[in-house]
Amino acid sequence: MPLKIGVLISGSGTNLQSLIDNIENGFINGEIAVVISNKEEAYGLERARKHDIDAVFINQKFYDSFEKFNDAIMDELKNHQVDIVVLAGYLKILSHKFIESYRHKIINIHPSLIPCFCGKGFYGLKVHEAAVNYGVKISGATVHFVDEGADTGPIILQETVVVNYDETAESLQQKVLKIEHKLLPLAVKIICENALEVVERKVKIKELD
Ligand code: GRF
Repeated sequence: MPLKIGVLISGSGTNLQSLIDNIENGFINGEIAVVISNKEEAYGLERARKHDIDAVFINQKFYDSFEKFNDAIMDELKNHQVDIVVLAGYLKILSHKFIESYRHKIINIHPSLIPCFCGKGFYGLKVHEAAVNYGVKISGATVHFVDEGADTGPIILQETVVVNYDETAESLQQKVLKIEHKLLPLAVKIICENALEVVERKVKIKELD
């Protein structure tokens, strides 16, 4: 049985689109059961609907605590019998209960080479501004498991891009996004084929067919 995937988003959802495309073209043996957003206007919800995928907006304002808001997301994932959760531009942290219930079953994509330019406050263009201002010669993207810390879980895949002298945060963002759209589908494929093992904080990837 192909794994059922739940995708959490907050924005445009280009990474979500890369998953949809790579499921439709057969690269990933999985199924997106539901897309959940904490923002009503997130274009990713529209992308999901266009492909007949259940798209749900969950408004934190309707819940009197952060925990209850997270419980509502988990209920939605359970109703869709989700096996793995992909954070694809989801701009909120998860409750401890959420992380515990899906240990090594939640992955996130971050637009830098972790442990650089990550953690609290590093999101969106800020990540790339920090990389450009630091003067690094390479940056990249990281797919990792989600644990209780901010961007601290075991790393599944990383890929680099070259940062040129005249690079801007915007141009770097575009470059990195391009590799994100290959890296995230590859990580999801690896998980759907059960081709990895987590050994303490190291991830061992088995050879794919
Ligand atoms: C990506 O850069 C991702 O690495 C980060 O948020 C951004 C989401 O972009 N976590 P999109 O919504 O997938 O276009």
